[in-house]
Amino acid sequence: MQKILLPSIFLVTLLISRFQTFATCSKDGFIFNGFTGANLSLDGVASITSDGLLELTNTTMSTKGHAFHPTSLSFKSRTGKPLSFSTTFVFAIISAHPDFSGQGFALVVSNTTNFSAALAGNYLGLFNSNNNGNSYNHVLAVELDTIQSYEFQDIDDNHVGIDVNSLRSAYSQTAGYYDADSNGLFKNLTLHSGQPMQVWIDFNGEDMQLNVTLSPLQTPKPNRPLLSSTVDLSSVLLDSMYVGFSSSSTSGSIQTSHYILGWSFKMNAEAEPLDYSKLPPLPHSKARSKWKELVISPLASFCFVLMVIGGVLFLLRRKTYAELVEEWELEYGPHHFSYRDLYRATKGFKDEELVGLGGFGRVYRGVLPTSNMEVAVKRVSHESRQGMKEFVAEIVSIGQLRHRNVVQLFGYCRRKGELLLVYDFMPNGSLDKLIHDPTQPALDWTRRFQVIKGVASGLLYLHEDWERVVVHRDIKASNVLLDGEMNGKLGDFGLARLYDHGTDPHTTHVVGTMGYLAPEAARTGKATTKTDVFAFGAFLLEVACGRRPVEPAAAGEQVQLVLVDWVVEHWKRGSVLATKDPRLGEEYPAGEVELVLTLGLLCSHPLPEARPSMRQVMQYLDGSAALPELSPTYMSPSILPLKRTEWLDDYILSFPSSVATVSTCSVSEGR
Ligand SMILES: *[C@@H]1O[C@H](CO)[C@@H](O)[C@H](O)[C@H]1NC(C)=O
Ligand SMILES: *[C@@H]1O[C@H](CO)[C@@H](O)[C@H](O)[C@H]1NC(C)=O
Ligand SMILES: *[C@@H]1O[C@H](CO)[C@@H](O)[C@H](O)[C@H]1NC(C)=O
Ligand SMILES: *[C@@H]1O[C@H](CO)[C@@H](O)[C@H](O)[C@H]1NC(C)=O
Ligand SMILES: *[C@@H]1O[C@H](CO)[C@@H](O)[C@H](O)[C@H]1NC(C)=O
Ligand SMILES: *[C@@H]1O[C@H](CO)[C@@H](O)[C@H](O)[C@H]1NC(C)=O
Repeated sequence: MQKILLPSIFLVTLLISRFQTFATCSKDGFIFNGFTGANLSLDGVASITSDGLLELTNTTMSTKGHAFHPTSLSFKSRTGKPLSFSTTFVFAIISAHPDFSGQGFALVVSNTTNFSAALAGNYLGLFNSNNNGNSYNHVLAVELDTIQSYEFQDIDDNHVGIDVNSLRSAYSQTAGYYDADSNGLFKNLTLHSGQPMQVWIDFNGEDMQLNVTLSPLQTPKPNRPLLSSTVDLSSVLLDSMYVGFSSSSTSGSIQTSHYILGWSFKMNAEAEPLDYSKLPPLPHSKARSKWKELVISPLASFCFVLMVIGGVLFLLRRKTYAELVEEWELEYGPHHFSYRDLYRATKGFKDEELVGLGGFGRVYRGVLPTSNMEVAVKRVSHESRQGMKEFVAEIVSIGQLRHRNVVQLFGYCRRKGELLLVYDFMPNGSLDKLIHDPTQPALDWTRRFQVIKGVASGLLYLHEDWERVVVHRDIKASNVLLDGEMNGKLGDFGLARLYDHGTDPHTTHVVGTMGYLAPEAARTGKATTKTDVFAFGAFLLEVACGRRPVEPAAAGEQVQLVLVDWVVEHWKRGSVLATKDPRLGEEYPAGEVELVLTLGLLCSHPLPEARPSMRQVMQYLDGSAALPELSPTYMSPSILPLKRTEWLDDYILSFPSSVATVSTCSVSEGR
């Protein structure tokens, strides 16, 4: 019984409200208490709902909506002065999100109703990037803006602004009103609250004063306007102008609808007040009452469907974010990242976020969701095995290293078959690129020397100044990263060990990259601080000569270039400076370049005990100690009495970082 009665009551109310809606138009004004049957010129997504609401935008993304009074009005007196006008309207902005909203809308006085060239989004359907700010526009707009656009220097994301030919408001104020009931105290209003509010816009053509007043619905017009400004509209208002509304939606996902419930306009006099009792209801309140009475069983089935969908989504999500966490990892709290956070940070490991492809895996740029910190996330494939626990312990201890020339490792995350390492993000990428990529501008000597000294100081910290001796195991230009100030930082720690753990435990692997690998390390597979010094030597030569430690045979040539051999030859002939990078030009400090080249040879000494320690290296670079003379019988490490093929066959060289590395193997086998 009740179920049948209520809908019919609802219908009757609806019909009554329709009949009550009425619009009157005269030559110099009009009033719409609801818009049923109103003759407006609409475009875009603007429409009049069956209830009589003027809906400027619906929840479709990136759209515009306009509604104009169909006939033009004269805004100029015979003497050419702008005329006074007054208008008031009731609106509601309904956002699907309680805290945010899509764009706002504006009341517009314009010489045209053709806004086909205007843009949606923060252009509010009024202008585009070419005509915004153009004095020929003849547009006055009062915007009710719910997004802070930095492009237009908006004061906040909830304001009322006076726009003259431009979206950069001439005057604006945070939305609110001076409440007459509480001695004119200012009270905020949230434009997108979904609550109906009323706006009054009054312009006096004599003194060019424009007042804009806002208040909650059913509150008498406040005495003090929100905005009261002198705006010279004499060149804006023309003899024939249209009045209406313009609105747009964002490309974002916040669905917002703009509604006008009633509108009154008058030239040269105060606009007729609206009859609140005749204004149409807003959709959400109507929807609620309908739901309560009519949709009980459909609602239940709808909920059931929702639950099923929710369940499926939950399972999918669990799969997407699945990771491995064991009990022993719990103590590493802050160093453990959830896969979900990393997934979000890198926008789902999108290709656009890919910043590097190493021999080890892919590196993505990301911004951590809670801290907004920029990070680099490296995805490395690995098979989980017993060594994992020790390895993670090592990563965590590496995460405690702090030095300005060492890339900070923040932590890790484990998944099946995969490990993710989270590092500090280095905006200038790797040194390798700057030195070897001919499309990049050449790095001058001052910068190179600064990077060399930085890397030396970082390596000294690892070897001698931290609580444990850390052997980097993979020093090379591509593992030297540059921060925002072009300081060199050592990156990619621990990966060498990961390689140890991640491969077949029955074979011993040599870890390192060809050309940087000390001969004794190649023989024994043991990494020491001296093998790091050897690699650092190769790195010095690489930076000073602008060539890779081993370069593939040039076209038409049989032999590839082994950098250290080539530098040794020149050094023996007394022409070591001829090996410097030609991209350094003619202006360079010869002493420093020679120091770096000779130090490179010293560090690349075939005998580990003849190589300097990193502390000595620092002293040579600082100039606080003199570089010892190289013995005239110095032999390049690649011309050792050991046949290279022997150890190349025995050991698989890991993670070749460049073409050069690969070709080295094949060519040297033929030697
Ligand atoms: C709407 O207004 C325009 C302009 O005054 C007029 O030409 C048109 O006939 C009107 N349409 C209706 C349905 O009244
Ligand atoms: C919005 O309005 C347009 C035009 O009236 C219509 O095509 C579209 O389906 C509407 N979108 C929604 C979400 O209601
Ligand atoms: C509206 O303006 C565009 C150019 O901005 C023009 O191409 C179009 O024909 C105009 N439409 C009308 C109805 O005047
Ligand atoms: C309105 O002003 C614009 C900008 O000056 C102009 O291009 C356009 O022709 C004018 N439209 C009308 C109908 O006067
Ligand atoms: C009103 O809004 C302003 C600006 O957003 C804010 O600083 C102030 O705290 C708000 N006041 C109230 C009472 O909400
Ligand atoms: C604007 O507001 C001021 C202050 O309340 C008032 O004195 C003035 O008459 C108003 N002007 C118009 C055009 O309504």
